[in-house]
Formats: sequence, C-alpha cells, structure tokens
Amino acid sequence: MKTKNATGVGNAIDRVEGHLKVTGEATYASEFKVENKAYGQGINSTIAKGEIIGIDTSEAEKLKGVLKIITYKNAEKLKTFDKERPVLATDSIAPVLQSNKVHYYGEYVGFVVAETFEQAQYAASLVKLKYKEDATARFILGQNKDKAYNPSEESDHKRGNLKKGFSEADAIIEQTYNTPIEHQHPMELHATISSWNNGKVLVYASQQIVEDAVISISGTFQIPKKDVRVVAKYVGGGFGSKLNVERHLIMAVMASKMVGRPVQATVTRSQMFTNTGLRQSNIQVVKLGAKKTGELTGLLHETLAYTSTTQEFQEPCGSMSKMMYNVANAAVSERLVPLNLQQPFSMRAPGEATGSFALECAMDELAWKLKIDPVQFRIKNDTQEDLSQEKPFSSRLLVECLTIGADEFGWNKRQQKPRANKKGNWLIGYGVSAAARAAPFNETHAKVLLNLTNDTVTATLQMDATDIGTGSYTILAQTVSDCFNVPLEQVVVELGDSDFPITPGSGGSWGAASYCNGAKSACDNAIAGLKKNRNVPKDEDVSIAELLKMNQITSYESQSLAKPDSEFEKHSIFSFGANFTEVWVDKDTAMYKIKRMVNVGSAGKILNPKTAYGQVIGGLTMGAGMVIAEQTKVEPNFGNFITRSFADYHVPVNLDMANVDVIFLPEEDKIANQMGIKGIGELGITSVAASIANAIFNATGKRMRDLPITPEKLL
Ligand code: MOS
Repeated sequence: MKTKNATGVGNAIDRVEGHLKVTGEATYASEFKVENKAYGQGINSTIAKGEIIGIDTSEAEKLKGVLKIITYKNAEKLKTFDKERPVLATDSIAPVLQSNKVHYYGEYVGFVVAETFEQAQYAASLVKLKYKEDATARFILGQNKDKAYNPSEESDHKRGNLKKGFSEADAIIEQTYNTPIEHQHPMELHATISSWNNGKVLVYASQQIVEDAVISISGTFQIPKKDVRVVAKYVGGGFGSKLNVERHLIMAVMASKMVGRPVQATVTRSQMFTNTGLRQSNIQVVKLGAKKTGELTGLLHETLAYTSTTQEFQEPCGSMSKMMYNVANAAVSERLVPLNLQQPFSMRAPGEATGSFALECAMDELAWKLKIDPVQFRIKNDTQEDLSQEKPFSSRLLVECLTIGADEFGWNKRQQKPRANKKGNWLIGYGVSAAARAAPFNETHAKVLLNLTNDTVTATLQMDATDIGTGSYTILAQTVSDCFNVPLEQVVVELGDSDFPITPGSGGSWGAASYCNGAKSACDNAIAGLKKNRNVPKDEDVSIAELLKMNQITSYESQSLAKPDSEFEKHSIFSFGANFTEVWVDKDTAMYKIKRMVNVGSAGKILNPKTAYGQVIGGLTMGAGMVIAEQTKVEPNFGNFITRSFADYHVPVNLDMANVDVIFLPEEDKIANQMGIKGIGELGITSVAASIANAIFNATGKRMRDLPITPEKLL
C-alpha cells in the first residue's frame, strides 16, 4: 500500500492551515460570530492579602450599557476546594468570587458585564472596593525559606550513599542558582465566549486540553460533562498557560447564565501578568563531585520554589538531574514556600527549563575545575540506563548529539581558558549544555470518516486535539495522507471540539506522538475493517477507493484508541539534545550578543522538519529570553508585579538571536510508540540558558548564577 508520498510524514510541507491564519479566516476564541454577545471585564484586587469590607457599584451601574456587576456577594455558588492548598492539575476546578478574601495582588474580585468591551472596561474602573489589609502577606522566596514544606506529591529521589560519593571525589563544586518569576505570553490573549442554552453551556476558549477544560467546568459548576461543550479550533500559543481553565472563563460562564446572554471575556495583556499563569521563582542548590578522571561520584540537587497560598504546584527542577548522568549516589529534593503571589503553574518545560540551568552550569563549573573539556565530561558520564527509574532508555543518542554538535559548531577552536579569545573590544566565549525532556505518549482516541464521491476518497479525521501553533493540523493531515495513500488535498482534519474523540491535548511534549499514533490507529482500523468485510488479505495492496467500492459503500467510519504498550512501560523514554552557543561580550560595557547557536536533537521520528524546526527555534529563543531579559519583578512592600506590560517585561526579538542551526538526528524510537515519535515542544528550551551562561564564563571568566544575566550584573 505504501508508495513514496511527497507530502506524507517526514516531508517539510507548509502548514495546511497556514493560509487560513494569514488571511484571518482561522477563528480564535474571541472571533467566533455569536449573536447578542455581551462583554465581561474582570476587576483586579489592589491588595495582596486581606478582606473586602465594602463594595460601591453605584457609579458603575449608572453607566450606559452596564448589564451586571458580579462580586462575591451575588456570584453563583461554585464548588470550592475541599482542603487547604490542593494540588493544581490541568483538570482542577477553578472557583472564583466565592468569598471576600483576597490572596494576592491582582486576584479577580469582580466581573462587570456590559454591551461593549469599552463600557465593561470603564465600568470596571468605577467599581469602588474597600479592603481590610492583612499585613502578614509574604512575597519574597529568599526571605521565607523557613516556611518551606514538603509538597504533597513527593518527588524526592535518593540513590546510593551521597556522603560516600562526595568522599570519593577529587573535586567538588557546590553552588546556588536563582531563577526569577517568568511569564509566558502567547500571542493570542486568553479569551472565551460562553453561552447557555437549555441548561447546556457552549464555551469557545483558548485551551490546550479540551477534555480537561470540560472536566474543570463541569466540576466547578457541578453539572454533567455532557452539558459542557468546549471548542478550541485554533490556539495562538499556550506555553503551559492554557493547560488549565483560568478564572476569566469561569466568570464568563457564570455571567452568561446570570444575564441570559452569551458573554465574551478577553483577558488584557496586562491581566495576563496577574491572572493566567507564570513560572515561579526557584532557588536551586547543586553539589557535584567527580574523580580526577571525570567520573561523577555524587550529585545533590535541592530546589526551593514558591507556590500560592491557595493551591500547590511544584516545578520539578530536579527531574533532569535524576536521570541525566551515570552517578551512583544522588539526592534530589523539592520544597515549597507559600507566598501571597499569583498561583504558578507549568511554563514550557516546567522543571527542565530551570533545572537544567542549574545542573548544566554546575557540570561546566566542575569540568573547569577538573580541567576537562565540558563535552568530554558529559560523554564520560553518559548512561544508557535511567538510574532513577532503574529502566533502560528506549533510545539515547546524547553522545551523538554532543559529538555531531561539536563538529558542526567548530568546538575544537574553543580555548578552555576564559578571556583567551578576543577580537577588538569583544571577549568571545563558547558554551555547551546537554538536554533531556521526557517523551510521553498518552491514550488517544480518534475517528476517521471516509467518503467516496466520483472515485475520489475524502478522509476526515476528528479528534479533540488542539493545534497551539505547533503544527498539529499539518502533521495529522500528513499521517492520514500516508495511511490511506491519498493526496493531502483529500484529507480534512477537524480538531479542538469536545464533541470529537478524547485526546490528551497539547502539553508536556506528548501532543505529536499521541495524536499521530491515535490517528494512524483509526486509519489502520478503517482499512482492516474494510478488508475483513470482503476477505481481502491484510497485506494485499488495494487502494482505499477500491476497498470502499468492493464493499459497495460510499462512506465508512472508524474509531480507535491508541495507547502505550508494555515495552513503553519497561523503558525510560526521553528526547535528548545538545546546545552550543557562541557569545561576544563587550569587555567595557558587558553588553553581549548571542552570535550563533547549534542545536542537535535526538527526538525520534521528525514528522515535518519545517514545523519541528519552528518548535526548536522557538524553544531556543525562549531559553535565550531566560538569560538576556525575562523576569517578573515583585514590589517588595505591596506584592504587585512591577512588570505588567511588554514595555517592562522584555522578551527576545529576532536581532537577539543571531544565527541558529537546528539538526535532528535520524531516529525512529519504536519502543516509544508505533510511529517512533518523541516530543520536541519542550526539548528546545531545555538547557539553552546553561549553554549561554557557560559561554559567558568562557568569554569573561565570570560565573553568572542568577537569571537573567543582564549587563549590570556581568560588569
Ligand atoms: Mo506545556 S508547559 O505542558 O504547555
């Protein structure tokens, strides 16, 4: 059945939905045409901890167009947390406006509904709230270390004898690495249009995981899942912030019920700093010991992070430290401090992005102390077994990533000694880091509908999967086109609707592997079913059109479920990578430029090199952002974020990323899943920060352990 398909899996084709996006025809959450829609605007608290003791809505109510002002006083009763600080998950309930308590600066304390967006915004500004402030609010992680507790989801890991490990070491380094609060800012603002009809609610929303949004809405409003429909046809980026349901959505659903009209809530860019997710600050201590010859003998990685006072989330910064190197003695721990700040949650590569900064800088520090080349140091400590899970890796081409990357980059021209490579005023440095990110594959349902008209088969794939800008539509169209051996034009992919079969959604780098194996399974199932009906042998080459004709039917439907098998369970499954960076630092001003990067990834089968490059380049840029600029600053007395627009929260632009080469090693990991796919959504950002920081050390001789590395710190 297989012929060479020029647009099938593995080809760098353009996005199938590309023209819809550039012509504005792709409907994002706030763009659906909904009749008689009203607009809602959240009101943000102006204290960090305390109680609302007075609400004056009189002025706002007088305004033209105002339909409803909702506060804790008149809000619908929602399901609230049944214990103190429950763990935040992607399908958690999201109660809002349920009491007069305030837990952080910017928390929603009201919601104004009006005829127009402008009226709602203005009215929101006229609602007067009186507070009783509680002076015991806490904002700064480093000042509250004594409040640390063990998270309820224990992720600590210990193996061997760490004391013995360090006693066997010829060289030891122990350092503290600080990473600040960071915000993801997908281009598309968080938004929803919610409407009720006969006790059922339809929610257009920008969500990464449709099914979890359904569960969360049904749980929060205590209504059956079947009465909730969530539609997310196009999602303009998420980076973790759209994994879970945020409060604007719940307020819109509530408001729509109260005013008896559809309600749209579009979160403003400024509110995306206070109400839609962030990466919390971390303080990480890494201690490494090794023999003169380079073998690691001990590894300690302790992380202190903050969570909010209302929910618990831990970013497992030690996840990569657990499995990356061949070290018999290791201890990894995570501790949390509750602060009166916005609830943190997953931001691209939660754990690895920040954890790898600490681990891979520490590796560089120890390599320098041992006077061993940092590429060789990593190769020396390679392992084909995940020592934390005591399972072999399904495949691990880290050594290949490092050696091929070193070749491509010209690593042999690197001077080991800092400040040895100069050009005029510039100090030139080379840095390397290694990366690993789990490559999950989760249960995925899919449905395929075949239609034969005038000898031409159209295959329509339906899944509740989302395309968050990653290319899901495209790789799925390629997968279906391959399976049925029909041209891409005969494939229709329909995603992002809870009426379609359930998938794990887009997150955790599991999207591509899960979606494509799910789709393939539904297609294979269709072919098998059609063959079986007519007693056609399994491997006989018959076209899909022919099969439908043999069955004397013009349409056929097939559903299927793809899921991990026992081989998957027996292995530890990760994508791997290596990143090489060249920086130029001005020796007088400490202004620096990322001159070039070479990134090598071993990430299983690459479904579409074009969309895959996009993922990695995006990840590298976001990783560079961690180093050059990104940080959310907390005002130490009031606990508000000082950085609440792009004027003060800086992100990298094209000019900040001079020249980036991305190489994928040819690989198909058949243990990971049938199609051999591993994830790449989060591999790209992992450990980029370390490779830049290590390059800065090589250029200047200065170790920078606090992100971001701004010139005034480097001076
Ligand atoms: Mo990702 S942080 O699971 O979108």
